Amino acid sequence: MKLAGKVAIVTGTSPNIGAGIAGGLAEEGARVVCVDVVEDNATQCAQWIAGRGGEALGIACDVTDERQVEAMVARARGAYGGVDILVNNAGILGGLSVLEMPLERWNRQLAVNLTGTFLCTKHVARLMVEDKRKGSIIVIASTAAHQGQAGNIGYCTSKSGLLNFTRAAAMDLVKHGIRVNSLTPTATDATESHDRAVTWGRPRPERRTGMLDFPKMIPLGALPSPRHYARAAVFLASDDSEMITGFDLRVDAGAIAKYWPWIPGA
Ligand SMILES: NC(=O)c1ccc[n+]([C@@H]2O[C@H](COP(=O)([O-])OP(=O)(O)OC[C@H]3O[C@@H](n4cnc5c(N)ncnc54)[C@H](O)[C@@H]3O)[C@@H](O)[C@H]2O)c1
Repeated sequence: MKLAGKVAIVTGTSPNIGAGIAGGLAEEGARVVCVDVVEDNATQCAQWIAGRGGEALGIACDVTDERQVEAMVARARGAYGGVDILVNNAGILGGLSVLEMPLERWNRQLAVNLTGTFLCTKHVARLMVEDKRKGSIIVIASTAAHQGQAGNIGYCTSKSGLLNFTRAAAMDLVKHGIRVNSLTPTATDATESHDRAVTWGRPRPERRTGMLDFPKMIPLGALPSPRHYARAAVFLASDDSEMITGFDLRVDAGAIAKYWPWIPGA
């Protein structure tokens, strides 16, 4: 139990990566506040954790709205006495090319991915400073933060912004003993997330078709699942990483390290 006695806030707790990380933190003893703009994603994730013997609370909150974020953080403190861990996972994926991207969609994607992370970090870190808690803040990036992907201008831009947000916030907070690191996932195996959706009483999501042959392109030969990100998040949240701040931990099966023309499975 690496996180016994700790309180974590995880944003964006759909059955996919957010719930995988929230569940992984709870397995290590953390009490988890599950936060999502879609109320069902917050409450069902919390119920799922409680059903597995953990302790969790679901809160509906739009992370782009500062008043809602302040209220959410205050509720987390009221319920559990303070916050030790924040995982900024809420995000809007996908998009369009620079030629096609409508301004409103660009603004919303940057607001959720960048401003939402800023607001949650600001208010959770203020609470940590006030309570003198040496917390850990984790920012979920993407391999799209490291590379230029066609047809994904808002996502690539906002996710790469998060890499340097992480370093700058790490420097701002270092004197308070608060660490800030990013975690880079990549294209993710959908099986675990789809199984979890069914466990939550939802219909099994359709498998996406017409995608690139990811397992053939990726050095480790298979895509990561949310549980793999959860293990990395537990490491960054726990004292095992006490001398690590401003770092990006890639859980990408070797994707970014690869020499670009090499196709490992060819
Ligand atoms: N799925 C992937 O292959 C992949 C790869 C790399 C990085 N990521 C990153 O992992 C994170 C989770 O991705 P996912 O695949 O689980 O996506 P998802 O769409 O299943 O989950 C994102 C969650 O964020 C919530 N959200 C959106 N706007 C919000 C807002 N304003 N306030 C609060 N919550 C909001 C959504 O309701 C949703 O539950 C994202 O940051 C994403 O960029 C995902």
